[in-house]
Amino acid sequence: MTTALTGHTGLLVDQAERWTAHNYHPLPVVLASGEGAWVTDVDGRRYLDCLAGYSALNFGHRHPALIGAAHEQLDRITLTSRAFLHDQFGPFCQELAELCGKDLVLPMNTGAEAVETAIKVARKWGYKVKGVPDGQATIVVAADNFHGRTTTIISFSTDPDARADFGPYTPGFRIVPYGDLAALADAVDDTTVAVLIEPIQGEAGVLVPPGDYLPGVRQLCTSRNVLFIADEVQSGLGRTGETFASTPVVPDMYVLGKALGGGIVPVSAIAASHDILGVLRPGEHGSTFGGNPLACAVARAVIALLNTGEPQANARTVGAHLHERLNALVGHGLTAIRGRGLWAGIDIDPALMTGRQACEALMAHGVLAKDTHGSTLRLAPPLLVSKQEVDVAVNALHVVLKG
Ligand SMILES: Cc1ncc(COP(=O)(O)O)c(C=O)c1O
Repeated sequence: MTTALTGHTGLLVDQAERWTAHNYHPLPVVLASGEGAWVTDVDGRRYLDCLAGYSALNFGHRHPALIGAAHEQLDRITLTSRAFLHDQFGPFCQELAELCGKDLVLPMNTGAEAVETAIKVARKWGYKVKGVPDGQATIVVAADNFHGRTTTIISFSTDPDARADFGPYTPGFRIVPYGDLAALADAVDDTTVAVLIEPIQGEAGVLVPPGDYLPGVRQLCTSRNVLFIADEVQSGLGRTGETFASTPVVPDMYVLGKALGGGIVPVSAIAASHDILGVLRPGEHGSTFGGNPLACAVARAVIALLNTGEPQANARTVGAHLHERLNALVGHGLTAIRGRGLWAGIDIDPALMTGRQACEALMAHGVLAKDTHGSTLRLAPPLLVSKQEVDVAVNALHVVLKG
């Protein structure tokens, strides 16, 4: 595709189009630098980043504490493999386990790898601890989920774009409607080792389940001896105003990623108790890069930021302002608003424009956001934004909706 864009942007968009597989459809903006909630493109235009790397940039671009930790580690040692220990590993594991209130953690790199890890651990726990007959384990998941892109994970996706043409699919998953406790209870039987859900479904359009859902999932899992796995890759680490979106419900296993790497390196992990994560033995699971020194050093700085409580507090107060401002636009171009903290799913009146068209128009007004499906877009700015910065985004949306 040849674009009509000018300057460096046009050249670089065309080059990317020419030389990469088209597995994404990026907005035609080419970023060159970023600081806090703001990014600058190659032609010097500034934008407010309201996607924040799908929540991988919860602390903004180049947060000084995170960049400082990375620099310090780059000057010492960056990779050892897990064949050897290094001096960031034990501290990282302890600090993350304590943040999660769990006994053990297992670090990986991407969110999908952490989900795969959770699935493997749950299956092994099912066979060794629960006593499920070999090869029979089932995991119950929710429709409209998004847990990543591996062949096993897309096997239980209900999104045709994510799933079609990638079979044969991994068996062992049952899909029930999200938010429906009765359907969940019906799907659980003696072969069920886990329920795997997002506490808030991000990619589906920031869908918040009914208030009794997560407590009900907890109760069902406890009573049926099934692991409750909360995929907090996108919802966790401050986004909703709490460290975990599941709070006050406590799952058996947290799956974390994205923001854990501070927007610098991919860092993911699962966290659970001894009786669950203790089922793994040497050689059964691993990753060359998982738990590397650079990743651990950056993630420790992320955990230290979360331990101050400031990102969560800001997400609560500025998030309330965001939702108040967005709610005022319902009936004026928006049909619905969902979300919590600094996370909003926004349904635009489909008669006005698609989510993609809204994102292109927002971009022209200096705001970067991402559509999900149809006329839905999501706003998820870095957690340290101010009310004034949120106003920049909502004012731009208001102008775009007025056409
Ligand atoms: C809830 C959830 N789980 C897992 C993933 C996969 O993470 P990654 O893209 O790092 O593999 C995502 C990514 O958007 C996600 O939102």
